[in-house]
Amino acid sequence: MNNPKNIFQHHFIVTKKARQTLHKHKSCILWFTGLSGSGKSTIANAVESKLHDLNISTYILDGDNLRKGLNQDLGFSVEDRKENIRRAGEIAKLFVDCGIIVLATFISPYRSDRETVRSKVDKDELIEIYVDCTLENCEARDPKGLYKKARKGEIKDFTGVSSPYETPVNPEIVLDSNQCSVEECARQVIDFLKNNDYLS
Ligand code: PPS
Repeated sequence: MNNPKNIFQHHFIVTKKARQTLHKHKSCILWFTGLSGSGKSTIANAVESKLHDLNISTYILDGDNLRKGLNQDLGFSVEDRKENIRRAGEIAKLFVDCGIIVLATFISPYRSDRETVRSKVDKDELIEIYVDCTLENCEARDPKGLYKKARKGEIKDFTGVSSPYETPVNPEIVLDSNQCSVEECARQVIDFLKNNDYLS
């Protein structure tokens, strides 16, 4: 741990505002949270594709992908998930500073960790998107076969089975992936961004 008294923030000539002007749109974090198999990555993929078609600069930060690199030292204990989300939040914040829209797809099961990310950026820079899907439906989909393994006791601390998921209290967007198609969910996110002047 460094001594914060000996660390100094540098301020550079090219600002976040200048980068946003270059990109011709605002920057923000679309933070997708929900159970494994709820559709976070699939929906984010569709949203990113639509934004790309609108000439919006984007990047997806995905839980599985980060855990293959930067976060490969972390498991699924409460403390490791907290550190996982802290790092993801810090990276997402850097992307906002770069002037682009970052789509972050993490189970992020703990409210306090999600709130910590929110506290790091300006009020309108964090859009929390709850991908609402029942455990029964996620388990029936089981795209990676992980629920099956978790039920057999082959994976410990598995979200929804042996580890908690805290539902968001006041998310900006709720996507009902029980009922709605990927296309409908993606459209809902794009409409929110358009209606709230993020894309101009
Ligand atoms: S967290 O809770 O936000 O730190 O998790 P995240 O970084 O999003 O990683 C979730 C993906 O890891 C795989 N996986 C597990 N998920 C939950 N619990 C346990 N124990 C676990 N072990 C492996 C799984 O592929 C998750 O991806 P998604 O896309 O959510 O299914």
